[in-house]
Amino acid sequence: MPQPPPELADLSQRLCTRIVEEIENDGSMPFDRYMAMALYEPGLGYYVNGLHKFGSSGDFVTAPEQGKLFARALARQLDEIGEALAPPWTLLELGAGSGVLARDLLESMRKPPARYLILEPSAVLREVQQETVAGLPPGLRDRIEWIDRPPTESYSGVVLANEVVDALPVSRFRIENGQVLELAVNVVDDRLELTPRTGSERLNAALQPVIQRLPHPLPDGFESEICLDLHGWLATVTESLERGVALFIDYGYPRAEYYHPDRSGGTLVCHYRHRAHFDPFVWPGLTDLSAFVDFTACAEAAVACNLDVAGYTSQAGFLLSLGIAEAVGEVDDEYERLKLSAEIKRLTLPGEMGEKFKVLALAHDFEQPLSGFESMSQLHRL
Ligand SMILES: C[S@@+](CC[C@H](N)C(=O)[O-])C[C@H]1O[C@@H](n2cnc3c(N)ncnc32)[C@H](O)[C@@H]1O
Repeated sequence: MPQPPPELADLSQRLCTRIVEEIENDGSMPFDRYMAMALYEPGLGYYVNGLHKFGSSGDFVTAPEQGKLFARALARQLDEIGEALAPPWTLLELGAGSGVLARDLLESMRKPPARYLILEPSAVLREVQQETVAGLPPGLRDRIEWIDRPPTESYSGVVLANEVVDALPVSRFRIENGQVLELAVNVVDDRLELTPRTGSERLNAALQPVIQRLPHPLPDGFESEICLDLHGWLATVTESLERGVALFIDYGYPRAEYYHPDRSGGTLVCHYRHRAHFDPFVWPGLTDLSAFVDFTACAEAAVACNLDVAGYTSQAGFLLSLGIAEAVGEVDDEYERLKLSAEIKRLTLPGEMGEKFKVLALAHDFEQPLSGFESMSQLHRL
């Protein structure tokens, strides 16, 4: 891993000091607490320290950062939902990153929503988003509003989150002698390390029913993650969606694949300067931490939140159903066509983002079919 410049190494060191102090005061730290600190500790965490950059010069590139085609295809789905809802309708984007998706959606939609709300926990990223959308015509830009918490008044609309669920802090566990052990963060020989301890009641209560219903028993040594806050988070972000759809796009699997015995090291991924690795203790605060999403858990949480599971497919299935490939036929310039083809390949090929990323649609009082899920539904796999 490349050594960061001294001022960044110092920032990471200050975050480590805070983590170590908390461990010294409270004992070993649950991994979800560690992940929350590594990503969001005020002034120091990865998403809030002002260093984070999206795109080719940052640590990773998300689908909307690849070009405008992702947003254009998604805009078709949103237009369809918007038409079915009585205007005015609201779009709530969670975790808008650099703001490119907001900008490109507002530019691409035939009938943009009356309000485009952005719920972004990072003050630094809000500023980046404000710069990104500054060039929109005032009639579009003025629809955007940054909010600190989900709206409390009921609304008709869409909740949208691209690569946000993977950033929710997860707990880590290991199976040993058929028992669940929690992997918690400790200081061993002056280094942060994961060490096993008896699983908390909350972890056991959430995991036991999952493990018991898996098609394969989990072998000893199997390690993985579970997001204990998923249900509470989903309830909060969809609470006032009176009528409409929530769309979650992220990398993940249905549960049987997520906890497949072959995936015995779990799904945690760390990104540091375009290098993916698996050690969550490398440069905390300078490294993005995320875990794949258990989409079956999302569907279960949705049902518990009184939402219908309205669609589930791969990102390729979703974008191709919404006509992403048509963009190539619409341009004459050969160079432009090649660029668009390359973008479509990155978004839809199985070895790129096409199969690893999935799209989940949850609906409340909304029964119209959703075009993005019609031709390649994978609902049966959840
Ligand atoms: C990997 S980035 C994705 C950014 C953007 N959606 C994209 O696709 O480029 C994760 C984003 O989610 C935000 N985020 C993290 N946790 C969140 C939460 N609990 N609620 C809302 N946003 C969150 C981060 O601050 C960041 O903007």
